[in-house]
Amino acid sequence: MIVDLVLSNAKAYLKKEIVNCNLAIDNGKIFKISNEAKMPKAQTKIDLKNLLVLPGLIDAHVHLRGQEKAYKEDFYSGTAAAVAGGITTVLDMPNNDPVTMSAETLRNRMENAEKKILVNVGFYSEFPRNVEEIAKIVEEGAVAFKLFMTEQVGGLNIDDDHALVEAFKTVNQLKVSVAVHAEDKTMLKKAEDEFKRANRNGIEAFLKAHSENVEVKAIKRLLNIAEQTDVHIHFCHVSTENGLKAIIGGKKSEMPITCEATPHHLFLSVDDLEKTGTLALTMPPVREKHHTETLWNGVKNGWIDILASDHAPHTLQEKKAKVVWDVKVGIPNLETTLPLMLTEVKRGRLSIADVVRLMAEKPAEIFKLKGRGCLKEGNNADLTVVDLNRKYKIEASKFHSKAKYSPFDRWKVEGKPVKTFVNGQLIMDNGEIVAKAGSGKIIRRE
Ligand code: DOR
Ligand code: ZN
Ligand code: ZN
Repeated sequence: MIVDLVLSNAKAYLKKEIVNCNLAIDNGKIFKISNEAKMPKAQTKIDLKNLLVLPGLIDAHVHLRGQEKAYKEDFYSGTAAAVAGGITTVLDMPNNDPVTMSAETLRNRMENAEKKILVNVGFYSEFPRNVEEIAKIVEEGAVAFKLFMTEQVGGLNIDDDHALVEAFKTVNQLKVSVAVHAEDKTMLKKAEDEFKRANRNGIEAFLKAHSENVEVKAIKRLLNIAEQTDVHIHFCHVSTENGLKAIIGGKKSEMPITCEATPHHLFLSVDDLEKTGTLALTMPPVREKHHTETLWNGVKNGWIDILASDHAPHTLQEKKAKVVWDVKVGIPNLETTLPLMLTEVKRGRLSIADVVRLMAEKPAEIFKLKGRGCLKEGNNADLTVVDLNRKYKIEASKFHSKAKYSPFDRWKVEGKPVKTFVNGQLIMDNGEIVAKAGSGKIIRRE
């Protein structure tokens, strides 16, 4: 037998250990992991020269944009950013134009994406107006639902607890998860309106409006609703000490909940905003230093299940609006997340096992992405190859994303994704995209 590809001289993260091995790949799957002598003949052979092979990383929180928001990012540029950042699978958020919130909008989005993507892409849907549509959306292949609590994005009335319970029950019957952006709309809008009336239009007012309590209130409300429905809730971008505390409380009482942290909430604090200005403005915002310490502890001890980029690109002009309330919030993070985390491996704060758990194993498990998240025979050949010894500076101007800025611009990092394979195909080599648009695959929930 002749397989498609053999990767020789690899150091691969297998079963919690880094092992010297070779990998044979055929038909998009890992065919064999073994020593040189046991490798079949191959059409192509690549010598990895002792580089580290990780299971292809999964980013469960990405705003790929496209369609009417393609001026900010499109399916090609967004997935090029992913693959350049060592990410092989992304889950796309639904706050698009048009909003992904029906079988039809989801189908159109998938069709639009298919010929452009470079990685595996799964799609979230917002909630439809009509609960009957939920089953149709699931049938169409949505990986999970997303609920924004800060403002009305989808069709489900976020002010109505009964409606939420009903929708969550329906989702639970279909065994699908709900990811939530937990910031309380009522509390937030009230503060925002007061600041606007007082003509307070700076970053400080924005931070005060998006207070810790705004996050905690939404989390507690959702925990309450979760209790009545038993649905799996995934809390996106937890950013505060008391927010995490509330989630840990729910976990301790065995609720089916998980949560995520982002690089900006781990690495940045309000002090950094003096330098970055509105460029680093996100929802929820970065916090005071003591919150980042709490989040890092949560990452280390497992209360925080996954890391996700919350890649949220906007144009530079949108980021620099004069009045803070007009600034488009979010930062592009697909090309910074892994380098930042690998740097923490060098510094000893994280281990490679932590990175793989937080960025591959757990996201695959939580979102039921079958055949992904770990390196084993039979799994899809999604591989993130990294050079742990490469020291360099993050250069936002060279991003593949259309958003060529970053609060991490010029940060010194150590550890670089150097090759990315998606379903057995080499897509990124040394920072260059070496595959055609459309080489990626749409992931539908089975
Ligand atoms: O900072 C954010 N940006 N928070 C969100 O909830 C939305 C996101 C976006 O889509 O830009
Ligand atoms: Zn969010
Ligand atoms: Zn987001």
